Amino acid sequence: MTTERQWRVAVLGPGGVGGLVGALLARAGHRVTFLSGPETVRTVQEHGMHVRSGMFGEFTVKAQADTELREPVDLCLVTVKQNILGAAVDRVPPAALGDGLVVPLLNGIEHPAVLRERYRPELVVPGVIRVASNRVAPGSIEHGSPFVDIDLASATTPPEQLDALAAILNDAGIQAKTRDDESAMLWGKLFFLAPFALLTTHHQCSVGSLRTDHRAELTDLVTEIAALNPASDIEAALRFYDAFPPEAKSSMQRDAEAGRPLELDAIGGALLRIAQQHTIPMPLTERLVTALTPLADGAAAESRS
Ligand SMILES: NC(=O)c1ccc[n+]([C@@H]2O[C@H](COP(=O)([O-])OP(=O)(O)OC[C@H]3O[C@@H](n4cnc5c(N)ncnc54)[C@H](OP(=O)(O)O)[C@@H]3O)[C@@H](O)[C@H]2O)c1
Repeated sequence: MTTERQWRVAVLGPGGVGGLVGALLARAGHRVTFLSGPETVRTVQEHGMHVRSGMFGEFTVKAQADTELREPVDLCLVTVKQNILGAAVDRVPPAALGDGLVVPLLNGIEHPAVLRERYRPELVVPGVIRVASNRVAPGSIEHGSPFVDIDLASATTPPEQLDALAAILNDAGIQAKTRDDESAMLWGKLFFLAPFALLTTHHQCSVGSLRTDHRAELTDLVTEIAALNPASDIEAALRFYDAFPPEAKSSMQRDAEAGRPLELDAIGGALLRIAQQHTIPMPLTERLVTALTPLADGAAAESRS
C-alpha cells in the first residue's frame, strides 16, 4: 500500500461495481466490509470476494461481510441499484457511519439529494463510474472492460477530502479524478447514458444497430434530452455512440433480457421530472418510458424471451 494509512471501507451492494471496487481496495490493503443480504454475507464470509478480470487478473480477497454497518468507517461506497436504494440504506444507520464519506456510484442524478437527507451533507461525495462489470453469483464478479474510471465531485465536501479519496482509488488501480462541478458531472453521464439505455432496451438491439438502423430516432432523442441542459453537447454524444464496439449493449438492456428490474426511473423518470419542472415537452422520452414501464420491475421478462 502506497497511501499513508489503511482506510476502513464499507461497500453497500457488493455487485458488479461494488464487488469490483471493494475487492480492489481490499487487495490494496484497506479493511473492507461488504454489506448485503444474508446469502451474500455468508458467501463472502466463507469464500471471500472473487474477481475475474482481463485488466486485473483473477483473484480472491478475504473481507468482512455483514447485513448492517456496526462501526464507523472512513468510506462507505453505495453501489446498489437506484430502485432498491431506499431499502438498502437501512443497512447504514447514520449514527454507525461516524465521519465516513458516503460515495454513491449509481447512475442517475437524484440519489445524492436522497443521501444528503439521510447523512450529513458534507459527507456525501457523488461519483460517476465507467466500467463493465457483472455480479455473476453472490461474491463473484466478472470485469470485462479494459478500464475502471471514477470521477468524483461534491458541492458539499472539502476538496482535500476528495483528493485523499481519489488517491486511495488510484493506488488500488482505479483511474480516479476529482472534478469541480458535481451537477455537470452527473448530468454528463446521464445525457450520454439515457438515449443509449432507453433505445437499445426498447428496440432490443446493440449500439451498432442503434446508430445505423435507428439513427434518426437516436438523433431526435439526444436532441430532445439536450434541451434540458445547455451544457449538453449533441455532437459529442453522437460521436461517443459511434466509437462504441458495435456489439455493445446497455446495462438496462442486459437487465431487461435477464428479467431483472430496470433503472428506468433513475434514468428516464429523472429526465421527465426535470422536463416537468421546466415545462419542456419530451414526447419521445415519454413514449419510451411508457413503453418500457411494464418491464421496470423485471416481471415481464419471461414474455419477451
Ligand atoms: N455494472 C456496471 O458495469 C456498471 C457500470 C456503470 C454504472 N453502473 C451503475 O452502478 C450501480 C450498481 O450497479 P451494479 O451493476 O453493480 O448492480 P448489481 O450488480 O445488480 O449489484 C447490486 C448489488 O446490490 C445488492 N443488494 C440488493 N439489495 C440490497 C439491499 N437491500 N442491501 C444491500 N445490498 C443489496 C445485491 O446483492 P446480492 O449480490 O446479494 O444480490 C448486489 O450485489 C447502478 O446504478 C448501475 O447503473 C454499473
